[in-house]
Amino acid sequence: MFASGRGSNFEAVLKGIKSGKIAAEIVCVISDHARPPVFDIARKNRIPTHWVNRKQFSDAADYVGFLLNLLASYEVDLILLAGYLKLIPAPVVERFRYSIINIHPALLPNFGGKGFYGERVHRAVIESGVKVTGVTIHFVDEHYDRGAVIVQEQVPVLEGDTPETLAPRVLTVEHRLLPEVVGAYCAGRINVINGKVVWEK
Ligand code: GRF
Repeated sequence: MFASGRGSNFEAVLKGIKSGKIAAEIVCVISDHARPPVFDIARKNRIPTHWVNRKQFSDAADYVGFLLNLLASYEVDLILLAGYLKLIPAPVVERFRYSIINIHPALLPNFGGKGFYGERVHRAVIESGVKVTGVTIHFVDEHYDRGAVIVQEQVPVLEGDTPETLAPRVLTVEHRLLPEVVGAYCAGRINVINGKVVWEK
């Protein structure tokens, strides 16, 4: 898992694994931040954490090489991004094509892209006046918040909503949807045909 925030989606997936709904193991958590709250949750569950930041390396090739070696050392099959704000380097995307999944708190392609994260997403949604927002879970490509959509679910925007009232309504859906998607992926029920996601019934 790549995460840099509070780790509520990390916890939701971990719960799904512990309850036997997801046939997977979270082998490590990688963050570009030194001490994100998600690291505390990981450590409590004896899951290794790694602080990996482009700035720790003098050139991009070293950074990419380090990341690929780290992922190989854990024999990673799936990379989950949950609150990870940096772009995944292209060679890593290439190596893990259709094996990197991101969760976004809006209905992409709207309200996504560089700079659209956290509270900013919900603020932009409310300011635009749309009545529906939601959750998008998608495969990651070389661009921010793009790549084949796996699932989307709508969440209503209510009159008088603020980012503080809208965010938890969206987050509740995230916590249900992400474990479902990870479970389905690990069960081999999510396929990609001609660049489009096809769910096996
Ligand atoms: C979530 O809203 C997710 O959609 C977005 O970042 C947030 C992460 O929250 N990509 P958490 O750290 O999982 O609580």
